[in-house]
Amino acid sequence: MLKVIILSYFLHFCDCSHILVVFPVPEKRHSVLSDSLVKLLLNDGHEVTHVTHFPRETRLHNLAYVDISSKDHNAEDDWINTANDTLQMENLGLKYAQRALHHPNMQELMMNTTASFDLVIAEWFYSGLLAPISALYECPFIWYSAADVSWKSLSLVNSEVSTFPTPTQGLSITERIQRMWSHLQLIVRNYYHVAAKELPAYEKLFRDTFEVRRQALPNYETLVYNSSLLFINSHPILSHITALPINAKYIGSHHIEKATSPLPKNLKKLMDESSHGVIYVDLASSLISKNLQEEILQELIEALGHIKQTVIWKCDEIIVNLPKNLYTIKKPSQQSILNHANTIAFINHGDMLSIIEAAHHGVPVIGIPVMEDQISNIDVLVQREYGFKVDINDDLSSKVIDAIYKISDDKSYQARAKEARSILRYRLTSPQEEFQYWIKMVIQTHGTVHLRSPTLKISTLERYNLDIALLLILLIWFFTKVVKVFKVHFSDSNDDLVKKDL
Ligand SMILES: *[C@@H]1O[C@H](CO)[C@@H](O)[C@H](O)[C@H]1NC(C)=O
Ligand SMILES: *[C@@H]1O[C@H](CO)[C@@H](O)[C@H](O)[C@H]1NC(C)=O
Ligand SMILES: *[C@@H]1O[C@H](CO)[C@@H](O)[C@H](O)[C@H]1NC(C)=O
Repeated sequence: MLKVIILSYFLHFCDCSHILVVFPVPEKRHSVLSDSLVKLLLNDGHEVTHVTHFPRETRLHNLAYVDISSKDHNAEDDWINTANDTLQMENLGLKYAQRALHHPNMQELMMNTTASFDLVIAEWFYSGLLAPISALYECPFIWYSAADVSWKSLSLVNSEVSTFPTPTQGLSITERIQRMWSHLQLIVRNYYHVAAKELPAYEKLFRDTFEVRRQALPNYETLVYNSSLLFINSHPILSHITALPINAKYIGSHHIEKATSPLPKNLKKLMDESSHGVIYVDLASSLISKNLQEEILQELIEALGHIKQTVIWKCDEIIVNLPKNLYTIKKPSQQSILNHANTIAFINHGDMLSIIEAAHHGVPVIGIPVMEDQISNIDVLVQREYGFKVDINDDLSSKVIDAIYKISDDKSYQARAKEARSILRYRLTSPQEEFQYWIKMVIQTHGTVHLRSPTLKISTLERYNLDIALLLILLIWFFTKVVKVFKVHFSDSNDDLVKKDL
């Protein structure tokens, strides 16, 4: 008896749960984020199974990997085509999710009916296809977005945002109509995308897994919109939208360690001696970046040779004939470089990871965005006046040089970047603690049902009071008819009077 009591006591008070973390995007940057989440979960005593393309060599206690990497397709291939609109992003997202779910290791996990989890955390990358995993284990589910919040990601936890584009200041009525029109088109195309591509993919990939559990295939959309929380790898200072539903949480900069590691001696010496400042460049992993044509890149390198600042470029290859102020580094400690007092600008593609790191260290950004989310990230920095947007197709090198001149001549860019840094760092709780807090909350409350938006269950008709509007229109129509009848009647009797008078 005593044994049972002690056992149940421990069962009840043990906070450790078994958590499945699924990150489908075959990009190193995304694994930086998932590794950070996994580490936080392990620190909290949870047992974690991490589905990733980049499993670490070192084995950790309580951590198991499901390796979904594959040699068949080179991940970088996908980034050649710049997916700069939502539908292209959705196609890419679907492809990643399908590949992850289709992988033999993942299939093995999903077909294993003895495996069980208390929580599933999945990266939302323009596809809802990972949501049904939680239904296999009948456990709560959390979406994580590596990109800034968008109408698409926000609609996962709140249906209100999905129908209208976020309002922007200073648009004329025609521009607003145009925006509304393109947004409506997007919704229709998006609807088609889900019905024609995602649904069949869901049925194909999940039918067997539900069958072995003797369950009918649940409704797809119910599962996609059934998440307990949405974590967003961003922060209001870096974001377009600041009004979030209560179950969407900004945890941007959770991957940044509290202490920055010191620079290697020779690099520190180089940076200390660069009295005109240092420009740090990170454009994808290789110098001959897939997104930049070689001749444009050569032009940029040559142009950078004419400025007085030192340029540190992250790249894997060894390049000959570099200008003497340009240094390439294979695996730089990026944070330490950005943290150095002489760093005056960070040139990157505008992905959220780079944007957060730049803001965390107060460095202005020169962005060359290629993907839809990157374009939107850089737009925010341009608006807040500590970033520049450079079009990849149009006169790249001279625009980059222009931006560097502006940043080095006008100290206000540095000042605003430092201001963003203060705001980003001034928090009630650290993003790490916030993440851990909400994980516990979701597990303890079995899915934070108390935080769900009631609007998710309301039909479109009710939400916009379309029936009431219709009723009003009918009433108005009815009254105009009545008024008309009265008019005719009175004018008739007037006529009679006139006739009598005659
Ligand atoms: C998107 O990319 C295509 C080519 O890949 C380009 O023609 C178009 O201008 C780009 N659109 C934006 C908004 O950058
Ligand atoms: C299924 O999962 C359980 C629990 O995680 C594990 O012990 C078992 O080895 C797995 N079976 C297969 C066939 O992988
Ligand atoms: C939706 O989530 C809640 C809380 O996690 C869960 O109890 C419920 O079974 C889920 N619904 C479906 C259809 O999976």
